Amino acid sequence: MGGLGPRLLGRHPALAEPAREHPAGHAELAPLLHAAPFEDERIFLATQIADEARHTVFFQRFFEDVLEVGGGLHAALDAISPRATEGFRKIFEHQLVDAMDLIRREPHNERAWVEGVVTYHLIIEGYLAVTGQRSLLRTLRNVGMMPGFVAGFTAVARDESRHIGFGVLALRRRIAKQPEMARVVTLKVLDLLEPAVRTAVAPERRLPIEDPRTVPPPLRVNGQELRDFSMSSLAKRLRASGVSAPAAEEIRVQGEKLYEAAWSDYERNHGLRHPVRFYQEGLVTAL
Ligand SMILES: [Fe+2]
Ligand SMILES: [Fe+2]
Repeated sequence: MGGLGPRLLGRHPALAEPAREHPAGHAELAPLLHAAPFEDERIFLATQIADEARHTVFFQRFFEDVLEVGGGLHAALDAISPRATEGFRKIFEHQLVDAMDLIRREPHNERAWVEGVVTYHLIIEGYLAVTGQRSLLRTLRNVGMMPGFVAGFTAVARDESRHIGFGVLALRRRIAKQPEMARVVTLKVLDLLEPAVRTAVAPERRLPIEDPRTVPPPLRVNGQELRDFSMSSLAKRLRASGVSAPAAEEIRVQGEKLYEAAWSDYERNHGLRHPVRFYQEGLVTAL
């Protein structure tokens, strides 16, 4: 097919990440379901596993039928975007795998279950997937392209927000019963924050755009605004889970610093200013 829409989308950094976390998504959740102590949690997680399987099929069909890259989701993602970044591998190939393995080995370990929910629901879905979805959907709606994909992806985003809501409620339940679980949650978030921010910023990957002023306004992505949105959403979810306001605020501030460090690394790696600087200096605005 290969029209402008698919070509633009195939290179959009926000596409690869929400799609990439899906090949593992439905399978990785199984230990969390088996170890969930409450019936309502097991029922919800069963629906979530079905949702994730449907998302995988959606992305797979989109890659095959629209972008014309076949061979399954893994192969398609490899063809479209370069190998996963270091931050991505840390989260998806180590942290997530280890968290779920521990739950599988120790299904009665409450702390391990809480850490699994933080990893999957708060960080992978609540932070990484939502940030990517937001920027991609906004771009496509701005330019009015690919309404079919936008409709499907909007439905995926709606499912994700239900999944995240479940994670927040599950954590809230644990913290209400055992206040010391709040510390388990904040420590796990702090542990994952650096690789997560480095997955979102990907300082080793050179962006196709050097100066956002050369890009039409509907296609601009304001990294500063995305950072503020994603870090304050994370803090809000932590507070809703029962983490104290000062602890949630500390995580938000820490996250913002990690963005600054990742942007500076980008500049060192490529010998260029990161496009976010143009927004920070008020030289350009996005829609
Ligand atoms: Fe999903
Ligand atoms: Fe999800």
